[in-house]
Amino acid sequence: TSPETFFALIGGEPTFRKLVAEFYRGIAADPVLRPMYPEADLGPATERMTLFLMQYWGGPNTYSQQRGHPRLRMRHAPFRIGPAERDAWLGHMRQAVDSIDLPPDQAATLWDYLERAAYFMVNTMDDI
Ligand code: HEM
Repeated sequence: TSPETFFALIGGEPTFRKLVAEFYRGIAADPVLRPMYPEADLGPATERMTLFLMQYWGGPNTYSQQRGHPRLRMRHAPFRIGPAERDAWLGHMRQAVDSIDLPPDQAATLWDYLERAAYFMVNTMDDI
């Protein structure tokens, strides 16, 4: 990985590990989202999300070595993601982004992406 990536800029792997660990602490306690996760242990899901985000921002491509092309919309198709699920997901992610104390411009870059990605993942409007 080259040093000028956003991955490197915000602190590399430890930053992403902290971000996603914090996010999944929120998921673990969420009455709406927790039941959507098929596995009893959130550890493997935590690892997949961490590796995906590291790769997305220019870090090692371990995610695709293990999982292939991300195809995230397709991978989320089995789950019913409406506006309520999206907003709950974003609430935990907002808390996680705040927990890593990035400079405001870096936090905004990360957040803008996560917010757009969460809107993109919505696959039902049955909530509204
Ligand atoms: C997987 C829910 C948005 C990235 C999953 C899983 C669930 C889920 C239930 C299965 C757990 C697993 O096997 O890993 C949701 C909900 C969302 C959302 C409710 C609300 C909008 C996003 C967004 C991203 C993302 C915005 C990326 C920025 C991932 C990744 C995986 C995953 C990388 C693992 C894919 C794999 O390799 O199998 N998500 N997700 N998710 N999600 Fe989401």
